[in-house]
Amino acid sequence: MRTHYCGHLNREHIGQTVTLCGWAHRRRDHGGVIFIDLRDREGMAQIVIDPDTPAAFALAETVRSEFVLKVVCKVRARPDGTVNANIPTGEVEMLASEIEILNASLTPPFMLDDDNLSEMVRLEHRYIDLRRPAMQKNMMLRYRVAKTLRDHLDSNGFIEIETPMLTRSTPEGARDYLVPSRVHHGQFFALPQSPQLFKQLLMVSGFDRYFQITKCFRDEDLRADRQPEFTQVDIETSFLGEEEIMTIVEDMIRKMFKGVQDIDLPNPFPRMPFSEAMNKYGSDKPDMRVTLEITELTDVMKDVDFKVFAGAANAVGGRVAAMRVPNGAAISRSEIDAYTEFVKIYGAKGLAYIKINDITKLNEEGLQSPIVKNIHETALKAIIERTGAQNGDIVFFGADKAKVVNEALGALRTRVGHEKGHVDGRAWAPLWVIDFPMFEHDEENDRWVALHHPFTSPKDGHEDLLTTNPGAALSKAYDMVLNGWEVGGGSVRIHKQEVQSKVFNALKISKEEAQEKFGFLLDALQYGAPPHGGLAFGLDRLVTLMAGAESIRDVIAFPKTQRAQCLMTNAPNEVDEKQLRELHIRVRQQNPAG
Ligand code: AMO
Ligand code: AMP
Repeated sequence: MRTHYCGHLNREHIGQTVTLCGWAHRRRDHGGVIFIDLRDREGMAQIVIDPDTPAAFALAETVRSEFVLKVVCKVRARPDGTVNANIPTGEVEMLASEIEILNASLTPPFMLDDDNLSEMVRLEHRYIDLRRPAMQKNMMLRYRVAKTLRDHLDSNGFIEIETPMLTRSTPEGARDYLVPSRVHHGQFFALPQSPQLFKQLLMVSGFDRYFQITKCFRDEDLRADRQPEFTQVDIETSFLGEEEIMTIVEDMIRKMFKGVQDIDLPNPFPRMPFSEAMNKYGSDKPDMRVTLEITELTDVMKDVDFKVFAGAANAVGGRVAAMRVPNGAAISRSEIDAYTEFVKIYGAKGLAYIKINDITKLNEEGLQSPIVKNIHETALKAIIERTGAQNGDIVFFGADKAKVVNEALGALRTRVGHEKGHVDGRAWAPLWVIDFPMFEHDEENDRWVALHHPFTSPKDGHEDLLTTNPGAALSKAYDMVLNGWEVGGGSVRIHKQEVQSKVFNALKISKEEAQEKFGFLLDALQYGAPPHGGLAFGLDRLVTLMAGAESIRDVIAFPKTQRAQCLMTNAPNEVDEKQLRELHIRVRQQNPAG
């Protein structure tokens, strides 16, 4: 029925008669002539309906926003003065000879070009929201990214293999989404948090190079870069080491950025050990465009009078650190209050600061701050020297458990860096973070937990540390970070059963528990498992960054809200008693204590 897309028409079509199908974006009546902006997925065309075609004109008068139209029209040059340089079709307009209303529309709940829409309203009527040109662009970009990655993997000998959605829980660290079994009373499947175990088994089966673009499910606290269901570009290979895997996927990402958006990423991506990332940037995914750095001060604060600093400096696992903001003395009291509230989100108890008036005066005159009187000269000197502070700067401090200090100053670094323009001007700053520790200490339960997942291989020579000093053991894990977002992560895996058992020991997972939970993997490792490793990219995050969107919800057709709901279908919802009975489930009364 259609001969062209609206958005494809240009000067070259002048004189041709074309048939267009699309939605009435806007209708304007102008002194006896009606204009309709007709929209389809490729763009907008301006239709002119002249009273000389009375039938079309009469129909056009009844057209309202979002009516679906078919229009036969002749392409002509726009009269001088009405050329619209902002749209590709801006040099031409279409003189309608026939109009057909294919379907009417109720008045839409919002205007498509309203820039101040609430996300709630957009998500409730997502099918309309997705008509907006920005969303159409995002969806097409997402498709091109996935297609390009798939093609690249295909041409490098990777094959796509599907793994189950109804499976056992995989330990990726979040809560599982469970699916009750009707057939097996009281038993549950878990939706996969990732295909991790299956892809390792596929290596044992000899597939060598696997990939899958697949949904993963994690019931965790949601943020702008997290969804309960999201898409991974999941990759696993055999017989390759860390270096080769990182090279292959880095090359793929570079080519994809170039091919899809004509963006040049550096070659190679810089690399940084986890410990450096935490010490200097307070984060394992630092935004390298931000030029601010965090400075270590724990060693010089042990005997100062300011108890907050001395306490943290002397505590096991405590840290005192500073962040210098050049020219920051101009930051106002109310901004500092806002930053103090901000770091409290990350568990910090306050945000001490010193405004540097005169570095030659190590007293309250030169260093404007409520804490200076309680910090001795040696420590004040160290603050100035190590941070490189100059007159007119401000220095912020964090003192607490290292984890709290890192998260608080790390987040503040990114915020202040962008707000106050301490950025280096690069549009894209990729980074590999490497040399992750094997384990992280879980304070609450006083035990070690896997930092990546329990199948990650220790670094060569670190196997013994698994038993002697688990906290010092490093792993063959790597994360790809882009502009402060973790876009991908992976590792070389353990392929020897003895090493896997040592890791379970360190994690205090008993033989029985390991056998019960991952027996199939442990067994498989004993039947000729090749050395293997891989990684997974978060497709939603890659596309969000490339689209310049704020949230991954903007590149997912039908996302969930921050409260893990779909506002359009109203999922999750209550189900019939009959369904519950079949699943052997009774819903507990919610008691006030939760
Ligand atoms: P990981 O847990 O690091 O590794 O996940 C890989 C990548 O997936 C993305 N991602 C998410 N994106 C959106 N919403 C979420 N809730 C979410 N969680 C993770 C991130 C992340 O880098 N099995 C391992 C991979 C491996 O070792 O091969 C895994 O899942 O971009
Ligand atoms: P106080 O002595 O508690 O009034 O705190 C003095 C200054 O130190 C204030 O600016 C607080 O915001 C700050 N402060 C308090 N606790 C901490 C902490 N754990 N880390 C960094 N600064 C803190």
